[in-house]
Order: sequence, then structure tokens, then C-alpha cells
Amino acid sequence: MTKNQKAEELSVLKRILIVGNGGRENSIAWALSKNHSIEQIYVCPGNGGTENFERCMCLKTKSGDEKTIINECQRLQINLVIIGPEVPLAEGLADKMREAGLTVFGPGKEGAQLEASKDWAKALMIENNIPTAKYWSAKSKEEALGILQRFNQPLVIKADGLAAGKGVTVCETIEQSREAIKDVFSGKFGSAGNKIILEEKIEGPEVSIFALCDGEKLIILPPAQDHKRLLDGDKGPNTGGMGAYAPAPLINEKALNELTELILKPTLQGLKKKNIKYVGVIYAGLMLTSSGPKVIEFNCRFGDPECQALMPLMGKEFASVLFACARGESENAPKLTFNTKRSACIVAASKGYPESPQGGDKINIKVELNSSLQVFHAGTTVDKSDNIITSGGRVLSVVAQGESFVEAFNLAYSNLKKIKFNGMYYRRDIGYQVRNI
Ligand code: AMP
Ligand code: GLY
Repeated sequence: MTKNQKAEELSVLKRILIVGNGGRENSIAWALSKNHSIEQIYVCPGNGGTENFERCMCLKTKSGDEKTIINECQRLQINLVIIGPEVPLAEGLADKMREAGLTVFGPGKEGAQLEASKDWAKALMIENNIPTAKYWSAKSKEEALGILQRFNQPLVIKADGLAAGKGVTVCETIEQSREAIKDVFSGKFGSAGNKIILEEKIEGPEVSIFALCDGEKLIILPPAQDHKRLLDGDKGPNTGGMGAYAPAPLINEKALNELTELILKPTLQGLKKKNIKYVGVIYAGLMLTSSGPKVIEFNCRFGDPECQALMPLMGKEFASVLFACARGESENAPKLTFNTKRSACIVAASKGYPESPQGGDKINIKVELNSSLQVFHAGTTVDKSDNIITSGGRVLSVVAQGESFVEAFNLAYSNLKKIKFNGMYYRRDIGYQVRNI
């Protein structure tokens, strides 16, 4: 095929459907809407901010079941489906869509185990010499307590399955590890806690690296740093993420190349050895320890809110690149370029997040957007009188770009002050690691 023919094939991309309703999906829709050859972007079900962007609309189906969404994709002649969250990926939505003839960006059920089973992911890492913390797995409380007793040190306790970011307890004492084991087997995390991982506690700064994958090859994205804890100073409970920034200066270009060889390529190789054609995002959460980088988790999708910080850095080729990956032919896509600016994302959450977020509060947004400033909605909805109201824990994020992180964070924080809702909470110290560069 000639270069022109290849470009022509990718130009059939006219209608995209994004599955999900969070800030991640809102920012992906925004990034794709920059490509004017795309006629329509549906977000299913989307949120109160979806229709702020040109050619973007919410697609609300009567029931959110797989068959209905697949039928809608066929009726709307969708060329590309992007599945945002981990739950539908782990349930095999991508497989069913592919069986129905749709072109999908997102791994099938088997590949999604990278995130959906920590035990499975750990085994894959060991089989492929990917550096990670030492671990043991157990299927019963007695077995887990036995391992803890033998090891006689506080261990990190992880429910095996998906637990919305709440299944990990980093313990200071053996007693805490014991309690965490009992908690998991008490059914607190449902079937996610049928199995448990006990992990050696490691230390060091955390950073996330990402690759877009077409089953065979990887396209590496800028690294990002997330802030998982609720309170300033990285204190308080774990959340989905209270803010992020990219590119993380902890990883320069040389280090990113090394991490690609050490972690991302062997991960893809490991998946291929299991006959898994992995199409989607490989997200590796790393800890940079004194004995080298180690993987603490894999995710099978874009991070939220890392995605919101990353999307404004994507070049205009982004849509074509995702489409080419979904078709298993990333070599036919134009090279993905990146904006060289620094990007800062601050999440505003509702009162009570993460335990019991309150909803139903009217949101007042007085931000004047420009090409370096975005507001991405997450837990928002539109009421009958067209007011934007809160409907979830992480409500929205303000994202800004600058020549320096100082500039980016100043712009994001000064505009966050122009948003108000009852009980609005945000961390004041997002990006503290880079606020002087
Ligand atoms: P995860 O849900 O796997 O991302 O874990 C949540 C957080 O727990 C991570 O961001 C780390 O801060 C921490 N964590 C996970 N595994 C370990 C470990 N083996 N040692 C120390 N901290 C960990
Ligand atoms: N922000 C962490 C995650 O998306 O898992």
C-alpha cells in the first residue's frame, strides 16, 4: 500500500464513540474534537461537560448493557470505539464489540487482567523479568496470615481484583497487615477480595509511564505524576487521584527509553507469548527505588486524572494514531507529536469524597477558556433547568499549560478560584515536586 492509500484508509474516521462518564473520557473527547475531519464524537453516557465541545454529544442508552451499546454503535456507523474505564474492559466489552465487527481501542478481557488481577499481572512480571516488589498470593485468610507470620514484617496488602482504587493497604505494622488481610476476606471488596497479594513494602518517588499499543508495537507517551492521597502533603485516604502533571521531569528522555526496554516492551512481549493481542493503553505505575525502578501496578487504560493532564499535550495526529492502533497498524499512522509545554491538572472534588460524596449542588463556572486552559467535567450533570450540578466524587478538573510548571500551576490555580460549588474541595499542593521549575 502506498503512503497516500494508507492515509486515505485512516481518513474514513468520521464517527467515534467513547465509553465512560469521567474526566478522562471528557478530556479524550476534547482532544479528538480538535481534529476537524471527525464529524461526530459520542460519549456514552458522558457527563455535564460533554456537549461543551464541538461535535461532541452524550449518548444515553435506555440500559447501559453491552448489547444496547453495540447496537447503537452499529446504528450510528461508528468507525472507532474507545473504552475509557477498566470495568467494561475487564468484563470483555472490547471482545464483544470486535466480534460484532467494530474497531475498538481497548484490550479484551484477557489482556485487561493486567489490571483486573494483580496476581495475574505479578506472574506476568516474574515470567518476563520485569522488576517489581516481591510478593506472595493467598486464597484464604489462614494462608495469608501464615505468610505474614513467616515473613514477620509489615506487608502491603492488596485485594487481587478491581476495587476502585481502594483495595490496597500500605501497612506500617504487622498488626495493620493482619487487620487488612481480615478486611479483604470479610468481603469488603466483593469478589475482588477472593484472592490476596501480600507485597514487600518498597520506597521511592512514584511516576507513571504509558504506551499506546496496536498489539505489536508501542507508542510511548510523556510520563506523568499523579497525587493519589486526599489531603495536602500526600496525607489522608487514597483517592482515584486529586491532580496530576506531565511530562514528569523525574523521567528524562533517556530514562524513558530505558524504562521502555526494561518494562513496557517486556510487558507487551509477555502478553504476546500468551497469545494476547493487546490493543489499548499499557499504563505502568512505578516506584523509583534505590535499587532501581519497580512496577507497583499496571492499568489497562488511561489514568484519571493523568489523562486530563496529557490530552492537551497530544498533537493533532492523536485521533489517527488511536484509530491505527485499534486497526492493528500503528505503522500507518502519522507520527504522534507532543506539545512541549508543561501541563498541570487540579481536581475539584465534592464534600465527602472519597467515602460518601455529596451530589446535587449547583456549579458556578466563570472561567474564560483559552488554548492553554481547559475545564474537564467528571461528576457533573445537567438538571432540567440547564444548570450544571455535581453528581459524583471528583467533580471536575482545571487543566493549564505553560512554558514552566510554575506558569501552568499558577494559571490552573487562579482559574480554579473562579469555580464554585457547595463543599468544593481541592488540594492546594498539587505538583509540589515541580512548583519551582
Ligand atoms: P495501587 O492501587 O496499586 O496503585 O496502590 C496504591 C498506592 O499504594 C500506590 O500508589 C503506592 O503509593 C502504594 N503502594 C502500592 N504497592 C506498594 C508497595 N509494594 N510498597 C509501598 N507502597 C505501595
Ligand atoms: N490515577 C490513577 C488511576 O487512574 O488509576
